[in-house]
Amino acid sequence: MKKFVVNVKNVQKVYGKKGENQSHALKGLSFSIQEGEFVGIMGPSGSGKTTLLNVISTLDTATNGTVEIDGKDITKMKQSDLTDFRSQKLGFIFQDFNLLENLTIYENIALPLSLQGVSSGKIGPKVEKVAGGLGISAILGKYPSEVSGGQKQRTAAARAIVHEPAIILADEPTGALDSKNATSLLRSMENLNEKQGVSILMVTHDAFSASYCRRILFIRDGGLYKEIHRSGTREAFYKEILDALADIGTQSARGGS
Ligand SMILES: Nc1ncnc2c1ncn2[C@@H]1O[C@H](COP(=O)(O)OP(=O)(O)OP(=O)(O)O)[C@@H](O)[C@H]1O
Ligand SMILES: [Mg+2]
Repeated sequence: MKKFVVNVKNVQKVYGKKGENQSHALKGLSFSIQEGEFVGIMGPSGSGKTTLLNVISTLDTATNGTVEIDGKDITKMKQSDLTDFRSQKLGFIFQDFNLLENLTIYENIALPLSLQGVSSGKIGPKVEKVAGGLGISAILGKYPSEVSGGQKQRTAAARAIVHEPAIILADEPTGALDSKNATSLLRSMENLNEKQGVSILMVTHDAFSASYCRRILFIRDGGLYKEIHRSGTREAFYKEILDALADIGTQSARGGS
């Protein structure tokens, strides 16, 4: 039986103190992600997507409920252990790349390993392997300011996977890319998922990006609204996603339920 990389149980997130203007961003959300899955999160603005990703990525804490990652309940871990856990088990791809401008492409990719104290002799082959897989071997000696947007994004993807995390968390990873570079990054992510079995959780508002996922969770008003699986072609799935988005939009416009 496959194991779960992420297990979210009855998670609630309330912003603000009691008696003040509280905002219930997540209202008892539950779902699991199996090892090797490529899952998308979609939903209207303000539905709780970023909050959910922040809770899973240990950057924010849940008000209630549990979040297990790779078998560990992160809601019960100490802050000091969380920092190590995050750097070992999670890989991040942000919309704005977050590359360090004064480090080379090679050094940027190597960062998660350097931070874990891996020796430079062991770092080299790992960096070269992921760079090769993402087609950026030729630019390893350059600085971020000297490469294209797509190459920056693939550098960010390489950095997200170089330490073989339990899961990659991506927040609108194609948001800042033109359609050619977006497609290229999505193919890279699809490839990582299919060939290397890397688990991916991606938040996106874009149906085209979402069509690369195998399963999509639609969030509305802090709860799970519906879930769809890709069974046929990516093109067919894209149409299904558009239908689901239209459905959520209609429901929201009616004022819910
Ligand atoms: N730091 C915060 N303090 C108070 N309320 C917040 C905070 N962050 C988010 N919220 C509220 O929680 C709800 C969910 O916000 P969240 O950012 O998770 O939405 P989202 O689905 O990511 O939206 P978008 O698609 O616009 O990025 C919203 O009602 C928002 O106003
Ligand atoms: Mg958001």
